[in-house]
Amino acid sequence: MTPQTVRVELAAAGGCDRSYDIRVGQGILAEIGPQLAAHKVTRAVVIADAAVVAQHARIALESLHAAGLDTLVLEVASGEGSKAAGEAARLWGDLAEAAVDRKTHIVAVGGGVVGDLAGFVAATYVRGLAVWQVPTTLVAQVDSAIGGKTGINLPAGKNLVGCFWQPRGVFSDINSLATLPKREYLSGLAEVVKYGVIRDESFFAWLEEHRQAVAAADPAALHHIILTSSRHKAEVVSQDEHETSGLRAILNYGHTFAHAFESASGYGRFLHGEAVSLGMVAAARLACRLGRIDSELVDRQNRLLAELGLPTDVDSVARELATDELLAIMRRDKKAVSGQLRFVLPTRLGHVELVDGISAADVAAVLETTGLEATG
Ligand SMILES: NC(=O)c1ccc[n+]([C@@H]2O[C@H](COP(=O)([O-])OP(=O)(O)OC[C@H]3O[C@@H](n4cnc5c(N)ncnc54)[C@H](O)[C@@H]3O)[C@@H](O)[C@H]2O)c1
Ligand SMILES: [Zn+2]
Repeated sequence: MTPQTVRVELAAAGGCDRSYDIRVGQGILAEIGPQLAAHKVTRAVVIADAAVVAQHARIALESLHAAGLDTLVLEVASGEGSKAAGEAARLWGDLAEAAVDRKTHIVAVGGGVVGDLAGFVAATYVRGLAVWQVPTTLVAQVDSAIGGKTGINLPAGKNLVGCFWQPRGVFSDINSLATLPKREYLSGLAEVVKYGVIRDESFFAWLEEHRQAVAAADPAALHHIILTSSRHKAEVVSQDEHETSGLRAILNYGHTFAHAFESASGYGRFLHGEAVSLGMVAAARLACRLGRIDSELVDRQNRLLAELGLPTDVDSVARELATDELLAIMRRDKKAVSGQLRFVLPTRLGHVELVDGISAADVAAVLETTGLEATG
């Protein structure tokens, strides 16, 4: 499989073309040095997740050295806890101590946590350093590293502080997924299935047909799913970079329910993708209840999720969590408009719409029902 490029087209600003390339393939980490050197970069600070420093960040670092760049590595402890103001402040301090100037580029190596944190630190230090994203989880390769959303969490909620800061480029090396724990990998597949449901019926059918290769992380299957997902994310971001037209909101399919499940169960019980899988089950049920899709489509989506090893038993999750609390969290959701319930719902496979003004009674019914689809 030859490495491939996906272009993220963005409107120019201040006379600068901000569009960038996502490189997808095996061994892409070795391209980093030559690529930065081609941009006349002479110094790079690699901000890396502790879990990937020894293996994947080292390959990036060797590539940067070989291309003649001066480098510094800043390690970040693994886990969501690092996406915090204290950690951003520590990194700002380290950059100051190393006398990092505005010509220095940041290279973020890790999953969504390091991508979001390092992106935010890059966006804010000396009013903005260029950043390159090197995603090493499936979630980051198909989603978080693309599109420029950066940020940290507050005790009051996730991603409450942050900004849009597009990377100069993204290097998605399929080889780096070989060390990813299986549960993390499968969790990322929820976002992959999401692209099929919201935009691409034939990709959904491809996932059904190749489900065994996909679940087993076969390299050829990985190449196809990362490339296709990157194309979808890139197209949506190109058309609605700052989530103003409503188009980018379709990426939140399943996420209103997912955020409520994550928050009500206490962060840590579900991985994000697992909550998204449950959220897509609930959203499809809601669409069916509202007469937008038939129960066959609900079953078809849920079957694929289950076959890929993702959780789909919304009923048992909903039995444990209070419906009132879930509804209250959904009303507070960043994406809710004046407390009104708003969901991204399918109208057919490969197409979704943003639907406002959904009644709490319908949402509660979806969570309290024993299921419109056959549950096993
Ligand atoms: N910016 C966006 O648009 C966007 C989109 C989706 C999610 N996110 C954010 O992304 C975060 C979740 O990202 P994630 O799922 O990548 O989590 P993560 O960054 O916490 O990584 C998951 C785990 O895998 C480990 N890891 C990473 N790469 C590895 C590798 N190659 N081998 C072995 N272990 C590895 C990490 O240390 C961590 O323990 C959340 O904070 C979420 O808010 C952001
Ligand atoms: Zn998500």
